[in-house]
Amino acid sequence: MSESPRCRVCDGPLREFIDFGRQPLSNRFPRPHQVDDEYFFTLSAGICESCTMVQLMQEVPRDRMFNEEYPYLSSGSEVMREHFTEIAQRFLSTRLNRGDAFAVELGSNDGVMLKTLADAGVRHLGIEPSESVAERARGRGVQVWTEFFEEATAEAILDAEGHADVVYAANTLCHIPYLHSVLEGIKTLLAPSGVFVFEDPYFADVVRHTAFDQIYDEHYYLFTARSVQAAAALYGLELVDVERLPVHGGEVRYTLAHAGAHTVAPGVAELISEEDALGLSRRETLDAFAAKVAAVRDDLVRLLTRLNEQGKRVAAYGATAKSATVANYCGLGPDLVEFVCDTTEAKQGRLTPGSHIPVRPAEAFHTDFPDYALLFAWNHAEEIMAKEQEFRDAGGAWIRYVPDVNIL
Ligand code: SAM
Ligand code: TMP
Ligand code: ZN
Repeated sequence: MSESPRCRVCDGPLREFIDFGRQPLSNRFPRPHQVDDEYFFTLSAGICESCTMVQLMQEVPRDRMFNEEYPYLSSGSEVMREHFTEIAQRFLSTRLNRGDAFAVELGSNDGVMLKTLADAGVRHLGIEPSESVAERARGRGVQVWTEFFEEATAEAILDAEGHADVVYAANTLCHIPYLHSVLEGIKTLLAPSGVFVFEDPYFADVVRHTAFDQIYDEHYYLFTARSVQAAAALYGLELVDVERLPVHGGEVRYTLAHAGAHTVAPGVAELISEEDALGLSRRETLDAFAAKVAAVRDDLVRLLTRLNEQGKRVAAYGATAKSATVANYCGLGPDLVEFVCDTTEAKQGRLTPGSHIPVRPAEAFHTDFPDYALLFAWNHAEEIMAKEQEFRDAGGAWIRYVPDVNIL
């Protein structure tokens, strides 16, 4: 008998609450001749009954996900470009304003945040295991090591550059199952009054908005203030601040510091009480979430089948990693969704993972509008709907499935 998985953070018992079945790697877009060579795993999530950390039940080996073929580019959204410029400027004016200040970013991708620090002449280092995106950052004058961050990397950085005043990670910490090694590394690397600032999708928003496609291979953890606070405490770190962010469908920016080094902002206790009021770790709350997810799937499949029977053309917008969960869980293929458009060159001319919908450039959408556009990139809805106003003017309609299935 195989042992049931234990919490990756505290070794407590995990209670599974949702299962999406067999799923492919969300960011590996096969060429047509590679469809027989896809990697699949079982995507299910559970909550730790001791520390409340929400996590996947099965782990995908990191080199399968993050390598020289990793296609995701952080600069693909204008809103996100502004978001990263803003946080970089905030760091510059607060924590990086002394002469030899040093900042490290984990998962620096194409350099969208670090470029602002590099341009300001601030000592910095990106740690980015995916070579293709790391190379783009170097092309913008950003220093990057092509490596996975973990405890040993922290020691190497310390030897090379000394302590860091700021360590930052956006949409990256939740991608790292070996959180213990990362937090040990952070403890080693941070200057006595340094801060580790990271932002990731917020589990409370996932539950509130039935944003079930935030669950996929790369999103190993779905954090809450409570679970982050508990994890930090295991490593002599402390959650000292939280900030709600509207990006990517709802995130929280957490600030950790050495225990006792900073005053804890009142927002931390406030957010934890909000989470408690939502009942985020209660069985009934999570069972109700799972039931809503199944209802959304049924509604979406029913709608797309009906449109197909009526001879309507449906295309999808944004070949997001998230949409791998939706497409594979709902069984969407090229029979129901003609193509998906995406601005990322490395995804174009390929097929969506597991569901094999052709990925085409944005021009494919503009030159021949479909009747309906399924908004796979729902987290960029405002930006996309504003720039695609012509589609609406031409009689097209958007289909969303978060928080529920609707046409607008
Ligand atoms: N920070 C960017 C943003 O918010 O748009 C990129 C986020 S991207 C979803 C996640 C990034 O984390 C990828 O570029 C991936 O290669 C990187 N990554 C994965 N594991 C990592 C690790 N152990 N250390 C540093 N980066 C890692
Ligand atoms: P994300 O949700 O993980 O940020 O991925 C967004 C995907 O959608 C990425 O592949 C880029 C694509 N995209 C477009 O094709 N057009 C757009 O206007 C935006 C904002 C994103
Ligand atoms: Zn735990």
